[in-house]
Amino acid sequence: MSVQPCPPPPALRLLSEQPQDSAAIERLLDHAFGPGRFVKSSERVREFADFAPELSVCAWEGERLAGVVRLWRVRVGATPLVFLGPLAVDAAQRSAGLGGMLVERACELARAAGEAAVLLVGDEPYFRRFGFAAAPAAAVRMPSPVDQRRVLLRSFAEHDALAGPVAAR
Ligand SMILES: CC(C)(COP(=O)(O)OP(=O)(O)OC[C@H]1O[C@@H](n2cnc3c(N)ncnc32)[C@H](O)[C@@H]1OP(=O)(O)O)[C@@H](O)C(=O)NCCC(=O)NCCS
Repeated sequence: MSVQPCPPPPALRLLSEQPQDSAAIERLLDHAFGPGRFVKSSERVREFADFAPELSVCAWEGERLAGVVRLWRVRVGATPLVFLGPLAVDAAQRSAGLGGMLVERACELARAAGEAAVLLVGDEPYFRRFGFAAAPAAAVRMPSPVDQRRVLLRSFAEHDALAGPVAAR
Protein backbone atom coordinates (compact mmCIF):
# COMPACT_ATOMS: atom_id res chain seq x y z
CA MET A 1 0.00 0.00 0.00
CA SER A 2 1.44 3.38 -0.94
CA VAL A 3 1.70 6.10 1.70
CA GLN A 4 0.22 9.41 0.63
CA PRO A 5 2.44 12.40 1.35
CA CYS A 6 0.98 14.89 3.83
CA PRO A 7 -0.23 18.07 2.15
CA PRO A 8 1.74 21.15 3.21
CA PRO A 9 0.11 23.20 5.99
CA PRO A 10 -1.90 26.13 4.64
CA ALA A 11 0.03 29.40 4.57
CA LEU A 12 -0.52 31.82 7.42
CA ARG A 13 -2.48 34.94 6.48
CA LEU A 14 -2.48 38.06 8.67
CA LEU A 15 -5.69 40.02 8.09
CA SER A 16 -7.47 42.91 9.77
CA GLU A 17 -10.29 41.78 12.06
CA GLN A 18 -13.73 41.41 10.44
CA PRO A 19 -17.12 41.29 12.25
CA GLN A 20 -17.57 37.61 11.35
CA ASP A 21 -14.29 36.71 13.14
CA SER A 22 -15.66 37.40 16.61
CA ALA A 23 -16.85 33.85 17.50
CA ALA A 24 -13.47 32.32 16.65
CA ILE A 25 -11.69 35.11 18.53
CA GLU A 26 -13.82 34.59 21.65
CA ARG A 27 -12.99 30.86 21.60
CA LEU A 28 -9.27 31.51 21.25
CA LEU A 29 -9.26 34.14 24.04
CA ASP A 30 -11.22 31.86 26.39
CA HIS A 31 -8.65 29.11 25.87
CA ALA A 32 -5.66 31.43 26.18
CA PHE A 33 -6.75 33.36 29.29
CA GLY A 34 -9.32 31.16 31.02
CA PRO A 35 -11.98 32.50 33.36
CA GLY A 36 -9.71 35.29 34.69
CA ARG A 37 -9.95 36.96 31.32
CA PHE A 38 -12.49 39.63 32.28
CA VAL A 39 -10.98 40.71 35.60
CA LYS A 40 -7.82 42.09 34.05
CA SER A 41 -7.06 45.80 34.35
CA SER A 42 -6.84 46.00 30.54
CA GLU A 43 -10.46 44.89 30.38
CA ARG A 44 -11.49 48.08 32.23
CA VAL A 45 -9.83 50.11 29.43
CA ARG A 46 -11.66 48.12 26.80
CA GLU A 47 -14.97 49.01 28.45
CA PHE A 48 -14.62 52.66 27.38
CA ALA A 49 -12.04 52.61 24.58
CA ASP A 50 -12.91 52.90 20.91
CA PHE A 51 -12.20 49.52 19.27
CA ALA A 52 -10.14 49.73 16.06
CA PRO A 53 -10.86 46.56 14.05
CA GLU A 54 -8.90 47.87 11.05
CA LEU A 55 -5.75 48.01 13.24
CA SER A 56 -6.47 44.65 14.91
CA VAL A 57 -5.00 41.54 13.33
CA CYS A 58 -6.09 37.92 12.99
CA ALA A 59 -3.68 35.16 11.90
CA TRP A 60 -5.46 32.51 9.85
CA GLU A 61 -4.12 29.10 8.95
CA GLY A 62 -6.67 28.07 6.38
CA GLU A 63 -10.03 28.44 8.16
CA ARG A 64 -8.44 28.11 11.60
CA LEU A 65 -7.69 31.14 13.77
CA ALA A 66 -4.09 30.79 14.99
CA GLY A 67 -3.71 34.13 16.76
CA VAL A 68 -5.19 37.54 17.38
CA VAL A 69 -4.23 40.99 18.62
CA ARG A 70 -6.64 43.87 19.18
CA LEU A 71 -6.03 47.63 19.27
CA TRP A 72 -8.17 50.36 20.89
CA ARG A 73 -8.06 54.16 20.53
CA VAL A 74 -7.53 55.99 23.83
CA ARG A 75 -5.68 59.03 25.11
CA VAL A 76 -3.43 59.89 28.03
CA GLY A 77 -3.71 63.58 28.82
CA ALA A 78 -3.83 65.34 25.46
CA THR A 79 -1.93 62.57 23.65
CA PRO A 80 -4.00 60.18 21.55
CA LEU A 81 -2.54 56.69 21.28
CA VAL A 82 -3.63 53.07 20.93
CA PHE A 83 -4.00 50.43 23.63
CA LEU A 84 -2.93 46.88 22.64
CA GLY A 85 -4.64 43.76 23.92
CA PRO A 86 -5.55 41.08 24.19
CA LEU A 87 -2.77 39.24 22.34
CA ALA A 88 -3.13 35.47 22.10
CA VAL A 89 -1.74 32.61 20.03
CA ASP A 90 -3.25 29.15 19.85
CA ALA A 91 -1.37 26.91 22.32
CA ALA A 92 -0.36 24.50 19.55
CA GLN A 93 1.34 27.26 17.59
CA ARG A 94 3.33 29.11 20.22
CA SER A 95 7.09 29.78 20.16
CA ALA A 96 7.17 29.95 16.37
CA GLY A 97 7.24 33.72 16.15
CA LEU A 98 3.54 34.28 15.55
CA GLY A 99 2.97 36.42 18.67
CA GLY A 100 5.82 38.63 17.50
CA MET A 101 4.42 38.87 13.99
CA LEU A 102 1.04 39.96 15.36
CA VAL A 103 2.55 42.62 17.63
CA GLU A 104 4.75 43.97 14.83
CA ARG A 105 1.92 44.03 12.28
CA ALA A 106 -0.45 45.80 14.68
CA CYS A 107 2.27 48.35 15.48
CA GLU A 108 2.93 48.93 11.75
CA LEU A 109 -0.77 49.50 11.15
CA ALA A 110 -1.00 51.90 14.09
CA ARG A 111 2.03 53.84 12.95
CA ALA A 112 0.75 54.02 9.36
CA ALA A 113 -2.58 55.32 10.72
CA GLY A 114 -0.70 58.20 12.34
CA GLU A 115 -0.87 56.98 15.94
CA ALA A 116 1.98 58.30 18.11
CA ALA A 117 2.40 55.33 20.44
CA VAL A 118 1.14 51.94 21.60
CA LEU A 119 0.38 51.27 25.27
CA LEU A 120 -0.24 47.87 26.86
CA VAL A 121 -0.20 45.93 30.12
CA GLY A 122 2.02 42.88 29.80
CA ASP A 123 5.24 41.12 30.65
CA GLU A 124 8.18 43.38 29.91
CA PRO A 125 10.52 40.37 29.35
CA TYR A 126 8.32 39.46 26.37
CA PHE A 127 7.42 42.87 24.98
CA ARG A 128 10.79 44.65 25.26
CA ARG A 129 12.00 42.83 22.13
CA PHE A 130 9.41 44.86 20.20
CA GLY A 131 10.58 48.18 21.66
CA PHE A 132 8.18 48.42 24.63
CA ALA A 133 9.44 49.82 27.95
CA ALA A 134 7.97 50.67 31.35
CA ALA A 135 9.87 53.90 32.05
CA PRO A 136 8.00 56.12 29.55
CA ALA A 137 4.67 54.89 30.96
CA ALA A 138 5.60 55.32 34.64
CA ALA A 139 3.10 58.19 35.16
CA VAL A 140 0.27 56.60 33.14
CA ARG A 141 -2.66 55.59 35.35
CA MET A 142 -4.71 52.51 34.49
CA PRO A 143 -8.39 52.54 35.56
CA SER A 144 -7.85 49.76 38.13
CA PRO A 145 -4.86 48.68 40.21
CA VAL A 146 -1.99 47.16 38.25
CA ASP A 147 1.70 46.50 38.74
CA GLN A 148 3.08 49.67 37.12
CA ARG A 149 6.12 47.74 35.84
CA ARG A 150 3.73 45.95 33.49
CA VAL A 151 2.44 49.17 31.90
CA LEU A 152 4.54 49.45 28.75
CA LEU A 153 4.87 51.96 25.95
CA ARG A 154 6.34 51.99 22.46
CA SER A 155 6.46 55.40 20.78
CA PHE A 156 6.68 56.09 17.05
CA ALA A 157 6.70 59.87 17.14
CA GLU A 158 7.54 62.81 19.38
CA HIS A 159 4.77 63.42 21.92
CA ASP A 160 4.34 65.05 25.31
CA ALA A 161 5.56 63.04 28.31
CA LEU A 162 2.63 60.82 29.26
CA ALA A 163 0.98 61.42 32.61
CA GLY A 164 -2.50 60.83 33.96
CA PRO A 165 -5.35 58.40 33.44
CA VAL A 166 -5.98 56.35 30.32
CA ALA A 167 -9.18 57.90 28.98
CA ALA A 168 -11.59 57.73 26.07
CA ARG A 169 -10.76 60.01 23.13
C1 LIG B 1 2.29 35.48 24.85
C2 LIG B 1 1.96 34.75 23.56
C3 LIG B 1 1.00 35.58 22.73
C4 LIG B 1 3.26 34.58 22.76
O1 LIG B 1 2.95 33.98 21.51
P1 LIG B 1 4.08 33.19 20.67
O2 LIG B 1 3.56 32.99 19.29
O3 LIG B 1 4.51 32.00 21.41
O4 LIG B 1 5.23 34.30 20.70
P2 LIG B 1 6.62 34.31 19.95
O5 LIG B 1 6.78 33.04 19.16
O6 LIG B 1 6.74 35.61 19.28
O7 LIG B 1 7.65 34.33 21.16
C5 LIG B 1 7.80 33.17 21.92
C6 LIG B 1 8.93 33.37 22.91
O8 LIG B 1 8.51 34.33 23.89
C7 LIG B 1 8.62 33.74 25.16
N1 LIG B 1 7.54 34.22 26.00
C8 LIG B 1 6.23 33.96 25.87
N2 LIG B 1 5.53 34.56 26.85
C9 LIG B 1 6.44 35.22 27.60
C10 LIG B 1 6.37 36.01 28.76
N3 LIG B 1 5.18 36.25 29.34
N4 LIG B 1 7.50 36.53 29.26
C11 LIG B 1 8.70 36.29 28.69
N5 LIG B 1 8.85 35.53 27.57
C12 LIG B 1 7.72 35.01 27.05
C13 LIG B 1 8.48 32.25 24.93
O9 LIG B 1 9.09 31.54 25.97
C14 LIG B 1 9.21 32.08 23.63
O10 LIG B 1 10.59 32.00 23.85
P3 LIG B 1 11.48 30.98 22.99
O11 LIG B 1 11.39 31.48 21.59
O12 LIG B 1 12.82 31.12 23.61
O13 LIG B 1 10.83 29.66 23.16
C15 LIG B 1 1.37 33.35 23.83
O14 LIG B 1 2.22 32.65 24.69
C16 LIG B 1 -0.03 33.38 24.43
O15 LIG B 1 -1.03 33.44 23.70
N6 LIG B 1 -0.10 33.30 25.78
C17 LIG B 1 -1.39 33.31 26.49
C18 LIG B 1 -2.02 34.68 26.46
C19 LIG B 1 -1.09 35.75 26.97
O16 LIG B 1 -0.46 35.60 28.01
N7 LIG B 1 -1.02 36.87 26.21
C20 LIG B 1 -0.16 37.98 26.53
C21 LIG B 1 -0.88 38.91 27.42
S1 LIG B 1 0.14 40.25 27.89
